[in-house]
Amino acid sequence: MSCPDDTNRRLRVIADGPLAAEIVAMLADRVEIRPWPAADGGVDPTVDGLYTYGHPRVDASLLDRLPGLRVISNYGVGVDHIDVRAAAQRGIPVGNTPGVLDEATADMAMALLMASARRLIEGDRYARSGEFLRYDPGLMLGQEIHHATLGILGLGRIGCQIARRARGFDMTILYHNRRRRPDAESQLAASYVGFDQLLAQSDYLVISTPLTEQTRGRIGRDELQRMKPTATLINVARGPIVQTDALTEALQRGWIAAAALDVTDPEPLPRDHPLLRMSNLVIAPHLGSATVQTRRKMAETSVENLVRGLQGQPLVHQVNE
Ligand code: DGY
Repeated sequence: MSCPDDTNRRLRVIADGPLAAEIVAMLADRVEIRPWPAADGGVDPTVDGLYTYGHPRVDASLLDRLPGLRVISNYGVGVDHIDVRAAAQRGIPVGNTPGVLDEATADMAMALLMASARRLIEGDRYARSGEFLRYDPGLMLGQEIHHATLGILGLGRIGCQIARRARGFDMTILYHNRRRRPDAESQLAASYVGFDQLLAQSDYLVISTPLTEQTRGRIGRDELQRMKPTATLINVARGPIVQTDALTEALQRGWIAAAALDVTDPEPLPRDHPLLRMSNLVIAPHLGSATVQTRRKMAETSVENLVRGLQGQPLVHQVNE
């Protein structure tokens, strides 16, 4: 009896979705796309690739059920939802999309900072409402951005782009990293400070560090109480870096003046969460890299990573080399 010949079958990729039409078009004639397995459901062991689009968990137990897996490609830079080490132990490359989204995400950080400082969302609501009857010079006074002190927690690719933009506003730029960046210090006039100084001196504290075991919960009650009461916390990284209950308390008690979040923990927040009722919070639904141009580049890079991995070639960007 002859064995079924599987050598010419189309490569199978599990993708979580719904995928954008342009990604489906890029993949359609190259691979067979299968839906992400339900949490309690079985998974086809012959799958060749994983394409992560939102942030579904990719852990060792899923990898163990995919003995033929050749590549994991993530649409995005953050891979905190993927057990990268478990993939490396099994010889599976993990690809992501750094570089293409740094500027769009930095733009978003500045947009959140400015919207919060100048109370733009409150102002927008008020200007549309029947309450706006005449100009009032005392109305909705905000905080200045120019010449203020910007603290950056995580001066990586995105953090550097934020610093570049802040220079245009004549801001004093402080940063804290695990490792100092002498190149960035000279090019961006950014000063390295300890974590405590960063908290104490920043008028605006932007979080742009990856979510790791070291950064999870890094901003809690103690840290928020060490910030200026006039300060604003901006998070364009990952929600779990900030302890949500502590931030809620900080805004309620006035430990800090305001927060501007592109990401939360959990994401989305429950609809009745007290943070969502606070006027000193600006919040966006994880839009950091959401521009037409950047999303296109993320699609191209992640599809290229996927296809290269399936073919056994080096990825464009590999996390776990
Ligand atoms: C990223 O690139 O990590 C963004 O958060 C989108 O996932």
